[in-house]
Amino acid sequence: MNKNYKRTLVTTALPYANGPVHIGHLAGVYVPADEYVRFLRLRGEDVVMIGGSDEHGVPITIKAREEGVTPQDIVDRYHKIIKDSMEELGISFDVYSRTTSDIHRETASEFFRRLYDKGVFELHTSEQLYDEQAGEFLADRYVMGTCPRCGSDRAYGDQCEACGSTLNATDLINPHSRLTSAPVSLRSTSHWYLPLNRYEEALREWILEGHKEWRPNVYGQCKSWLDLGLQPRAVSRDLNWGVPVPVEGADGKVLYVWFDAPIGYISNTKEILPDTWEKYWKDPETRVINFIGKDNIVFHCIVFPAMLMAYGDGYQLPDNVPANEFLNLEGDKISTSRNWAVWLHEYLRDFPGKQDVLRYVLTANAPETRDNDFTWAEFQARNNNELVAILGNFVNRAMVLTGKYFEGVVPEAGELQDIDSQLIADVEKVRKELTDNLSEFHFREGVKSAMELARLGNKYLQETEPWKVAKTDMGRVATVLNTALQLCANLAVAFEPFLPFSSAKLRGMLGMEQISWDMLGRFDLIPAGRRLGEPELLFEKISDEAIAAQLERLERIKQENKIKNFKAAPQAPDVDFDTFMKADLRVGTVLECERVPKADKLLRFLIDDGMERRTIVSGIAKHYDPKELVGKQVCFIANLPPRKLKGIESQGMILSAENADGSLALITPMAPVVPGAQIK
Ligand code: MF3
Ligand code: ZN
Repeated sequence: MNKNYKRTLVTTALPYANGPVHIGHLAGVYVPADEYVRFLRLRGEDVVMIGGSDEHGVPITIKAREEGVTPQDIVDRYHKIIKDSMEELGISFDVYSRTTSDIHRETASEFFRRLYDKGVFELHTSEQLYDEQAGEFLADRYVMGTCPRCGSDRAYGDQCEACGSTLNATDLINPHSRLTSAPVSLRSTSHWYLPLNRYEEALREWILEGHKEWRPNVYGQCKSWLDLGLQPRAVSRDLNWGVPVPVEGADGKVLYVWFDAPIGYISNTKEILPDTWEKYWKDPETRVINFIGKDNIVFHCIVFPAMLMAYGDGYQLPDNVPANEFLNLEGDKISTSRNWAVWLHEYLRDFPGKQDVLRYVLTANAPETRDNDFTWAEFQARNNNELVAILGNFVNRAMVLTGKYFEGVVPEAGELQDIDSQLIADVEKVRKELTDNLSEFHFREGVKSAMELARLGNKYLQETEPWKVAKTDMGRVATVLNTALQLCANLAVAFEPFLPFSSAKLRGMLGMEQISWDMLGRFDLIPAGRRLGEPELLFEKISDEAIAAQLERLERIKQENKIKNFKAAPQAPDVDFDTFMKADLRVGTVLECERVPKADKLLRFLIDDGMERRTIVSGIAKHYDPKELVGKQVCFIANLPPRKLKGIESQGMILSAENADGSLALITPMAPVVPGAQIK
């Protein structure tokens, strides 16, 4: 850890502009990074926070083709959604730019060219899949075929989504192009490779010896990569979307997206600091911190550092890479393609003004040491039981009591009693913990420490009972409320990194203009005699209905996905015609229909079958209201042996079809027919 730094450059993984950002991105990268940057700013440190959209790569071109638009259209759309929604959440980037900017294309191009001129790259030729009809090489994602593991005929060249296996495009059975559906062939092509193996020793030394303080998940992943031994990696691709390879004879080739994207951190720094950017990248007194998710570790700890070493010129390697694990949603992996996510722009629409609630929940449950699960039930509970009941409640009590006893003017504190000094000592202890937690990237523990301050406040008011003391000793009430208000001022500081909107509101009520981290622990932050603003509630309860609406949305998505992924069951073995004809299938009219008591799936039908009437019990109660079925026609098997179900004799079986989501639809003739009509 570089202790003698003068400035900090904080980078945040550039999200792919092929979809909006979701809670997984936020919890993994942007919320903790923003908390860290706000903390440093409060300490008066020199810090810049770099962000931007990652606008190259194959998935963007696939999405564009699917929609019949250009890749530029796709990235323009999502860049805007991402940028606007992150701003609304209060993620305080100093710059949020994009990798299709001119400055980025130039910077990435120059970076490649310098390595090329230094003779760093190796040129290798290999066989790649090719679409003859389109005349294009195909990225693995562009190839589809039958999965050699599970037999699904919708496997992609890099992965089978049906069984989850990782694949090579050449493993697929009957591989064909997603562009033209034509079968694919192999063709040789040349690419530039970064010889990572040549940097292995330096990387080992730098990480394994020099950065034992990194998070165990990050250090561990680096160690296992390094122990396996590094191989040269291709840094160009045959693709028509990206930064062109700036070398003669490289037509149709672009920089691999993972080569150009991290250079985006540099381009975006240049964009806001055209004169001083080099200080932030090349001065040893700069500290670089990369906030990323765990799937980005190898690129940030191995590949990009090797690129920077190869480039030379003083570029600083990251001082820390606090990568998070993943956040799941209601027990399932978040997935953009399956729409299994809580999208930030939708959250902001559904919960207006509740940015801090999301920030709080994602921090309190941050996947720092292991994967975590986001549930709407926990979201509601943390809001109602913590933000409302602890933090909001304490602030409100202090404000309202001051209004009641001192007309909203901060009273003068008299002599402190033990309980007051104890509170001040407790706050001091929590202040230290909070500062350490934030300095060490322990945001989950950090927000707990901040909440502990509010808990101390509630306990203090509970124990000092100013509403009782007011009957006998207003001097004492003045001391208690002065102390409580000073604690509110501490909360405005402590929560600023986590809950910037609520902190601003609280500062408004307390009349605090400038705040800084060194105010924490002090009890002279608001002068006696100051008139406070109107007490406003910082948080409000989130209703069961609001939560139910979100859960219903997720349930709908689950059903839609089941329908999308539906695969008809394989055909049953042949049955000879005469056997089939033995089944007596008929149409009948429903005369009566009612639920079977104590059986939530069963309905009892009385059917006019053209002969007599018959009773049939059917397991369809979850899908139909019995009243609606009276008078309708259904199909049934007439010649099954009778069977007893819940004590009722069922004379046959009613036919229905099972949908992808397990729901059942009764089979009915397209036009009314006479009861007893045979089905042939
Ligand atoms: N777009 C990548 C992802 O979402 C992250 C790129 S980070 C950068 O996984 F360093 F390359 F910019
Ligand atoms: Zn499979």
